[in-house]
Amino acid sequence: MKSKTKKLYLYPLWLRIWHHVNAVLMIVLIATGLSMQYSNPDYPLIRFDLAVGWHNIAGVLLTISYFIFLLGVLFSSIGRYYVVKTEGLLTSFAKQLRYYLFGIFKGERSPFQVTEKQKFNPVQLITYNVIMHAITPITFITGWALIYPETIVLNVFGYSGIMLTSLAHSIAGFFISIFLIIHIYVITIGARPADNFKTIIYGYHEVHDPPKDTDEKNNKGQTEKPKNS
Ligand code: HEM
Repeated sequence: MKSKTKKLYLYPLWLRIWHHVNAVLMIVLIATGLSMQYSNPDYPLIRFDLAVGWHNIAGVLLTISYFIFLLGVLFSSIGRYYVVKTEGLLTSFAKQLRYYLFGIFKGERSPFQVTEKQKFNPVQLITYNVIMHAITPITFITGWALIYPETIVLNVFGYSGIMLTSLAHSIAGFFISIFLIIHIYVITIGARPADNFKTIIYGYHEVHDPPKDTDEKNNKGQTEKPKNS
């Protein structure tokens, strides 16, 4: 039987441009951050003064790009995809996680179907919210504090405020690096490995042969009614 394919336009141009700029900036930040933190100053991965300069510039640009994203989430149609409904969330999250960890290797279908109303599966929904609304802000707020160390409280319960800020900055950067590796792996899981890459380039998500039981149940814990753009 011939498979039916439907195209959904889920990634508006501004979001795609934001995403690519954000990805490049994050990669620059990770590379320069790792070089500053771990490489031998005598044989640095990236020359230390260059790494500091690029890291600071990318950090400033990332802050600007983050607020553009936040305005988009608050005031454009993409915001509805980030709304978390708690009802049924735990079950659908566990189902999706089980699929990523086991089901996929047994050739099962994803329990979640992308629709115009619900772009993210429960695992993506939680991960994207945590990364974009917690970890990324922690990274740039602590980054700005380290650019202006005089703003940091000197002593927090006997520990150096600068040391704690820099620790929080490194931990947040570590989480973003781990997210990036998993993110790139997960997006190769589509009908074909390149499908999701095409999606973020052209904006269209292809839905192949939606199963009949496209799962109101599994999609619970996610977005509700679309609001106007
Ligand atoms: C080389 C690096 C990257 C590649 C190839 C990549 C690829 C993709 C692809 C294909 C999608 C669409 C599929 C989906 O929604 O899951 C996507 C969405 C997304 N990516 Fe990435 N990504 C990269 C880096 C990043 C980084 C560094 C972040 C944030 C720290 C990020 C955050 C997101 C978010 C929040 C979305 C959902 C956007 C939305 O639809 O609202 N990505 N990415």
